[in-house]
Amino acid sequence: MITDRELRKKFFDYFESKGHVKIPSAPLVPEHDPTVLFTTAGMHPLVPFLLGEDHPAGQKLCNIQKCLRTGDIDEVGDEWHSTLIEMLGFWSLGAYFKKEAIAYSYEFLTDPKWLGIDPARLSVTVFEGDKNIPKDEESANYWMSHGIPEERIYFLDKSENWWGLPGNKGPCGPDTEIFYDTGQAECGPECRGPACSCGKFVEIWNNVFLEYNGVKGKYLPLKQKNVDTGIGLERLLAVLNGQHEIYATELYQPIIKKIQELESISDDTSEEIIADHIRAATFLIGDGVSPSNLDQGYVLRRLIRRAIRYGKKLDIEGKFLKKLAEVVIEINKDFYPNLADNKKEVYKELEEEEEKFQRTLEKGLKQLMKVMEKLQKGNMIPGVEVFHLYDTYGFPKELTDELAHEKGFHIDEEGYLVEFKKHQEKSRTGSEEKFKGGLLDDTEISKKYHTATHLLHQALREVLGKHVEQKGSNITAERMRFDFSHPEKLTEEELRQVEDLVNSKIQEKMPISCREMTLEEAEKTGAIGLFKEKYGGVVKLYEIGEYSKEICGGPHVDNTLELGKFKILKEKSASAGIRRIKAVIEPLSTIEL
Ligand code: ALA
Repeated sequence: MITDRELRKKFFDYFESKGHVKIPSAPLVPEHDPTVLFTTAGMHPLVPFLLGEDHPAGQKLCNIQKCLRTGDIDEVGDEWHSTLIEMLGFWSLGAYFKKEAIAYSYEFLTDPKWLGIDPARLSVTVFEGDKNIPKDEESANYWMSHGIPEERIYFLDKSENWWGLPGNKGPCGPDTEIFYDTGQAECGPECRGPACSCGKFVEIWNNVFLEYNGVKGKYLPLKQKNVDTGIGLERLLAVLNGQHEIYATELYQPIIKKIQELESISDDTSEEIIADHIRAATFLIGDGVSPSNLDQGYVLRRLIRRAIRYGKKLDIEGKFLKKLAEVVIEINKDFYPNLADNKKEVYKELEEEEEKFQRTLEKGLKQLMKVMEKLQKGNMIPGVEVFHLYDTYGFPKELTDELAHEKGFHIDEEGYLVEFKKHQEKSRTGSEEKFKGGLLDDTEISKKYHTATHLLHQALREVLGKHVEQKGSNITAERMRFDFSHPEKLTEEELRQVEDLVNSKIQEKMPISCREMTLEEAEKTGAIGLFKEKYGGVVKLYEIGEYSKEICGGPHVDNTLELGKFKILKEKSASAGIRRIKAVIEPLSTIEL
């Protein structure tokens, strides 16, 4: 048996011995890129360096990057899928290419000094080429030179052997994937080998050759040829220990044992789903996400509520998420110290969300049963009911959809969206009254907070100095949080000045405008914002009167007067050299415009 700790160490030892420098994991929420919700692959935080910028640690790197992939949420609970993945990666930023990457992968996996996997268990896939990109014979030849026989090399199309960011913007290229034969029998004469989903083959490593830059549907050569690789730690650990699924590993087993202590009914799949979701939720809150109805917060809410619902299936009594999060933190705290540092926050958020959902879960389930009783099997649950369940009982629409499926129904997605939009309209027209009741529509409030964030950013730079840079931001319907670089605690006087400055700018009733331009053009205007991490194509420049110019994905309100009164609630340290401000905006009706 190899422990996860030993595996992590072996990985770093091997790649450091080959001249790679170990870099830490970036957070799960991309720090400077509002266009994506989560870090879904190791390449995300490295995009500027793949495009040619110098990385401070050099051209050869290795890391274990935490990634969140919600695309696989429905597959969680099968043998090999999870939402949170710890991705082992080694990287060449223009230092070497296919030959060395394949040699490293092969040696690390098969050499008895390292992982010692029997080479007879390995098959690989390579890109078959298309009208734009040639067939990757080169990689196939390298594999053969290491002894992988031709019949275990599969040429597959772009849907299998190509990697890039969504929309194929930015760095991309063909990849070669390494598969482990579980020893299970073939599913039949039609078995498509590694391309088959029968479970005989598990993908354990992907080596991507990022040599193109996707720009407006064309593939231009990148300044440098890069290597981007990723192995799921969960999968590799299971394979090395002869386990038939990731949930058998020590990354999950202690969580599953705890669930089993608490449950009255036992069910493997439900236990695994809960274990996956609590692991992901704990990491997300540890990285500063709070449950909400927006963006990252919505995904977190969905994970937590899904875990609670599966907890019901197992007849777990009372609140249980904190008990499981304690186990998650125990397993991971040595590798992710932020989990232990933020454990109070993790427990608090989980307990609050659990209380909120517990209050309405039973009632919501009854309501849904009532609706389904009136329908025939196979029928669609009307959008208005799906919305009602969301609005009144806190059921994310995906949850209603799943519950409906279990009983042979499905939901009217479009009808739901119509209802959702109607609700937004209503909130907008009556926003002042609604806000008093705490019901202001999410989208509007989020726009307000986005705009307030820009005002705060600029005000901090004026009061504290130009060294202030945004390091992160998080918005919920209830508050905003802003992280920025500054070496020391802000004084009362500084906080008051910043708050007053933001409020005086709100009162100036400044219009907000948005223009699209290239990154270079935006830079020339003197805009602030997170240039380095932006890549490819056009950016949006938001201007607030003459006061603030910032690159951002938006959206924003039309005029600062919509904001209301800005109030700083708290200022504290977020990490070394980074301060965090929590602030709210108060209802329009209580201030004079
Ligand atoms: N970026 C590649 C992946 O995530 C390595 O599969």
